[in-house]
Amino acid sequence: MNDTPPAAAILSVADLHVRYGGSHVLQGVTFDVPATGVTALLGRNGVGKTTTLKAIIGLAPRTGRITLRGNEIQSQRTSRIVRGGIGYVPEDREVFGGLTVDENLRLVDPDRGVDAPVVAKLFPDLVGRGDQQAGTLSGGQQQMVSLARVLLRRNDLLLIDEPTKGLAPKLVTEVADVLAEVARTTPLLLVEQNLPLVRRIADQVVVIDAGRVVHHGDAAALVADPALTRELLGVSMRRKGAA
Ligand SMILES: Nc1ncnc2c1ncn2[C@@H]1O[C@H](COP(=O)(O)OP(=O)(O)O)[C@@H](O)[C@H]1O
Ligand SMILES: [Mg+2]
Repeated sequence: MNDTPPAAAILSVADLHVRYGGSHVLQGVTFDVPATGVTALLGRNGVGKTTTLKAIIGLAPRTGRITLRGNEIQSQRTSRIVRGGIGYVPEDREVFGGLTVDENLRLVDPDRGVDAPVVAKLFPDLVGRGDQQAGTLSGGQQQMVSLARVLLRRNDLLLIDEPTKGLAPKLVTEVADVLAEVARTTPLLLVEQNLPLVRRIADQVVVIDAGRVVHHGDAAALVADPALTRELLGVSMRRKGAA
């Protein structure tokens, strides 16, 4: 939407550095996440996308300045940052396979399980599966549990790491539908490799390479530019995968 001014930032990341031992993984990452819509965080494998989300949520050792609605959070612990309003859906859908779907959800809030209205609204496939062991669900259903667990809380901002990784095209579409619905009310910072999905739901893109931001701007413009996507991401839109 080029006719409206950009929304104010809900999250600002400035000069973010992460070092693991001798490895300087993030080398001064700086970007803003607008208070509405979807910001896609893109880049080749291993460039630091997951590390960026972990640094924001306090799960990676970081320096730099991170502000949520103008308040500095870079020295806060993860529990406080989550209470402050940032939800995090990690890569590899960390569900507890030995617990039921309902128990996985109640870990967040004992009062809200599979019968919570948000589950029926966004994850109809989980309704009726409350007593099923999460480890016996399909990969797509496990991703839905992982998303539902975070969406049971009220979040001011969601960080979501590769939610469609390894999913069949039909499930990619289902996850995309959920993300698009959630994004109507909550800003998302989304790591996603599926460019058709990025084209469908993202407003802004931030591209990282070798620990630095190398591009930011309009999502549709990037995805429409095959030379630029090849240069920045090493992929072309002919890649398979529906959204
Ligand atoms: N806990 C860790 N210890 C050491 N190196 C790590 C750790 N986590 C990630 N890295 C390294 O940091 C780099 C960025 O990783 P990551 O953020 O997972 O990349 P991406 O999500 O973009 O694929 C990689 O080279 C990875 O090997
Ligand atoms: Mg990653």
